[in-house]
Amino acid sequence: MNILVKAISEQKIKTDALILIFFEGMSPDIYSDIDKVTGNLIKKIISSKEFIGKQNQLALLHVHNIPASRILLVGTGKQSDATSEKLRQAGGKAFSYLRDIGVRDIAISTRLFKQLPKNFLAHRKPAFYFLEGGLLSLYQFEKYKRTDEKPSDDKQIRTVNILGSDRDISLKWLQTTGSAVSFAKDLINTPSNDMTPAILGGIARSLSGKKLKVKVLEKKDIEKQGMGSYLSVAKGSDEPPKFIVMEYKGGKGAPVALIGKAITFDSGGISLKPADGMEKMKYDMAGGAAVLGVMKAAAELELPVNIVAILPATENLPGGSATRPGDIVTSITGKTIEIINTDAEGRLVLVDAIGYAIKHFRPKMIIDVATLTGACSVALGNEAMAMMGNNTELMDKLKISADETYERAWQMPLYDEYKEYLKSDTADIKNVGGRNGSLVTAGYFIKEFTADVPWAHLDIAGTAWNDKDKPYSPKGATGIGVRLLIDFLKEL
Ligand code: BES
Ligand code: ZN
Ligand code: ZN
Repeated sequence: MNILVKAISEQKIKTDALILIFFEGMSPDIYSDIDKVTGNLIKKIISSKEFIGKQNQLALLHVHNIPASRILLVGTGKQSDATSEKLRQAGGKAFSYLRDIGVRDIAISTRLFKQLPKNFLAHRKPAFYFLEGGLLSLYQFEKYKRTDEKPSDDKQIRTVNILGSDRDISLKWLQTTGSAVSFAKDLINTPSNDMTPAILGGIARSLSGKKLKVKVLEKKDIEKQGMGSYLSVAKGSDEPPKFIVMEYKGGKGAPVALIGKAITFDSGGISLKPADGMEKMKYDMAGGAAVLGVMKAAAELELPVNIVAILPATENLPGGSATRPGDIVTSITGKTIEIINTDAEGRLVLVDAIGYAIKHFRPKMIIDVATLTGACSVALGNEAMAMMGNNTELMDKLKISADETYERAWQMPLYDEYKEYLKSDTADIKNVGGRNGSLVTAGYFIKEFTADVPWAHLDIAGTAWNDKDKPYSPKGATGIGVRLLIDFLKEL
């Protein structure tokens, strides 16, 4: 798609659809020059109250006397309540609507942005957010549609014209992060038969470049490293595990370690999950996919930081050699773990990946991203990820990026008392702490392997998947974590 900034007026631009943005209840006067020429249609629709500029409200007008063939009125709510997220959502609604009706070329008037209130706090230009929502909303996953259900290829927006003289809206950033989000979503939406650990490893390898080195440890290497906790999860599947290690060198000093849970299918193992909804467990590698998206974008944007990314990839299946509840395994740190429930496998693969990162890279901080617990959705629904960690400064920084990108993170406590929940009679620790507090005991389990390196854990179980469309995030994988972490790395 072509995105162009053009210093042309709304009345002169030739386009399929000209977007005019409105605050709720606003007088149409700021667009009166256009409206006069095209027959006062805007005034009419507003005085009839058919369109009042409510958040995400749309109204399409076919117009004459200007080169644009349509005008799309887009509401973004009350002027006094304007936020970057409201612009994102309005952009999402507008773009996906225009795509669906077959529009190919659009133009956005930026006039309204000059009237944003003083309390409109945002790091970037208003047009950035509107465009970001618009671009993200256009994502579609059609790889497996082979019939006429597949929307025709010509229903694609090809050109977006931003009207105005402000060229400084970080278009490269927008397009790179947007395509990293789509990349992650594609990986997550792909069914597990086509997204095995080996395939994921191949995809990681394909990202290698001058500053990005990728290696994939095989089962025998993983054994040699003593990652018995991770291997215990892989035992029940015929698909071999792949331990993916990526090193991006863009700056100086100790790297940031990003660890992504990459269970390409989670059946629960011997502690089998109920059949209902199990098909969704292909998204149990959403943390890993987000980390891959971040690495792709970091390399493309040449971020001036060092990053190591680790994806402990495996399936969690109940095969004949699967781990049994009650089994005790030894992690890379030497700590022994009693496996009470084989469905609490995420933490088992993460702690070995964290142990490996600490042993081989001495990272200055560790961030893990994981669809770790059902309890995360119970606590926060689909609105925020749960954040835990051992370092307030790191979590405060993540919170700023979470708010900026609206990939929201809500901090949960890791009280010392939770240690008691994870006491095993026979091993150093057990992998579940009971029903109560299972969101935070999962976090606490990981903390026990972080050796006091600054660490934060992001549980995205509730936010990695949409059961229904959201304004700029269609049904299916959300790619959450990609925009948050790239923003975080940029601020380092
Ligand atoms: N992958 C699941 C968590 C999950 C559930 C992610 C729903 C997305 C949607 C994880 O491996 C798991 O099964 N966790 C268990 C832990 C329990 C056995 C302590 C859970 O949350 O039920
Ligand atoms: Zn599980
Ligand atoms: Zn899982």
